[in-house]
Amino acid sequence: MYRTRTCGELRLSDLDETVILAGWVQKNRKMGGMTFIDIRDRYGITQLVFNQEINATLCEQAGKIGREWVVQVTGVVQERYNKNGHIPTGEIEIIVSELKILNMSEVPPFTIEDETDGGDDIRMKYRYLDLRRNVVRSNLELRHKMAFETRRFLDDRGFLEVETPVLIGSTPEGARDFIVPSRMNPGEFYALPQSPQLFKQLLMVSGFDRYFQIAKCFRDEDLRADRQPEFTQIDCEMSFVEQEDVLQLFESLTKHLFKTIKGLDIPDFPRMTYAEAMKRYGSDKPDTRFGIELVEIKDLTLGKGFEVFDSAEYVGAICAGSCASYTRKQLDELTDFVKRPQIGAKGLVYVRCDMDGSFKSSVDKFYSSEDLKCWAKRCYAKHGDLLLILCGETERTQKQLCELRLEMGNRLELRNKNKYNCLWVTDFPLLEKDEALNRFFAKHHPFTSPKPEDIALLDTDPGAVRADAYDMVINGVEIGGGSIRIHDSKLQQKMFQVLGFTEEKAQLQFGFLMNAFRYGAPPHGGLAFGLDRFVSLFAGLDSIRDCIAFPKNNSGRDVMIDAPSAIEQEQLDELNLQISHA
Ligand code: AMO
Repeated sequence: MYRTRTCGELRLSDLDETVILAGWVQKNRKMGGMTFIDIRDRYGITQLVFNQEINATLCEQAGKIGREWVVQVTGVVQERYNKNGHIPTGEIEIIVSELKILNMSEVPPFTIEDETDGGDDIRMKYRYLDLRRNVVRSNLELRHKMAFETRRFLDDRGFLEVETPVLIGSTPEGARDFIVPSRMNPGEFYALPQSPQLFKQLLMVSGFDRYFQIAKCFRDEDLRADRQPEFTQIDCEMSFVEQEDVLQLFESLTKHLFKTIKGLDIPDFPRMTYAEAMKRYGSDKPDTRFGIELVEIKDLTLGKGFEVFDSAEYVGAICAGSCASYTRKQLDELTDFVKRPQIGAKGLVYVRCDMDGSFKSSVDKFYSSEDLKCWAKRCYAKHGDLLLILCGETERTQKQLCELRLEMGNRLELRNKNKYNCLWVTDFPLLEKDEALNRFFAKHHPFTSPKPEDIALLDTDPGAVRADAYDMVINGVEIGGGSIRIHDSKLQQKMFQVLGFTEEKAQLQFGFLMNAFRYGAPPHGGLAFGLDRFVSLFAGLDSIRDCIAFPKNNSGRDVMIDAPSAIEQEQLDELNLQISHA
């Protein structure tokens, strides 16, 4: 038997018990005639003691053991003299009587402890060692629990987990596909699924009624802290449902996860339409943990000779509480922040609402104190607050104000990681216009149903059509999204038409779905959560990478296995592929 107990479970109640432990050596230190070794496994750390006076040979052997060697020890549990309050096993230690070295280890490239000296790159290269660290391992444990509780919850409610294929056909909508050449069909390619969307809809046509899958999805898009090229969805679909049914069910799943995993009771989720979210927060995924809402003041700024505001489609302000004392330097920093290319504002106007009731602004030349007072009143600003104002084209400026709002939220420490504000955003626009290409794209995907009352607008004003689509947003992160689907093949055809597909192209790419719809498609809808984002939120992580066992870096590389990589000419030939080195 390799072990009778784990390195995380022994307590004072186990005193005098003879135990066998196995694990990795985290630390080895000699103090006088004693050698102390911290032995680690997945469950924790236990201190081993070797006493020169009791067994000199054993003590000498122990002294030679290096970090990360794998050892097995037999010994007796004893109360510790110097207790360690930081670890659960800190009140005991093992007086070792037998030591067996199971394997030696080279000196690891970084310290495998909570506080490590290893930078990001080296930890990713040796990810299997990084995963020995508590902080990283606990994220994967959390991930397991969340996936497990999700399965339990959905199974209890009659959902069937069905696997859908990973080698599928490429579709032009959405993000870029990852492509896999087919050896048996020269010149033809599979694509990896961006989501199981079409298959889950087909499963509804098959009568499966309630489907889910914890599914790997692949998207070849630019990476960010909350995006990986391969990620995992909790993907769900239901038949004979309306939007309300879907929202209710997945709100309860979310509450269930908060309760079982974090012990938190979350109140019913507020709902907000897309239009309201954009107006109040400049974002379709507002962080509602704090106020600082956007306020439109265009009408109050008009006609005072300030051409920049007069010619702008939108003038909007946010009110930063108790920031009137911001220095010139701080205001310059904020100006630089909004002028960064990622945000793209031309400048920032401020109004200080001083404690004595006076106002000072960067546009004093054009606006009287009385004018500024009106702005402050509209923004509910108090003495001591600071107004920050941007102007320009409406949606663009709202988004810029959103970034500024989040920045102020960070500066004022209003984005508490232990506070959770959940929200449904509903009534998304069905379509989005690409002005450069002068064509519409589906905002969600081409299978999302327009709101029945807006269907007529598809012919007259497609941009104004709202969809039966919804996102679940928590603390400003889009955790999940879905929609009620089109189940009528005529309406689906119409949708393809609005998206600029010819009948042949629609048939070629989605013919199987439209055919399926001719055989009795039930009304259906669903949603998908991003599991990685959900876990990161629960773990308070800044990047979803930290809850993925073997993630890709920002250039989409796995630096551990060195992928992607070149392949042999022979393999290329077999696949009928030619690499152009132009
Ligand atoms: P959507 O594209 O909104 O919807 O994706 C659903 C959820 O998946 C997560 N997500 C990602 N997570 C990490 N890295 C990525 N690159 C990434 N892309 C998306 C987000 C998002 O909310 N088939 C539809 C769902 C449906 O309609 O049922 C879909 O894929 O958390």
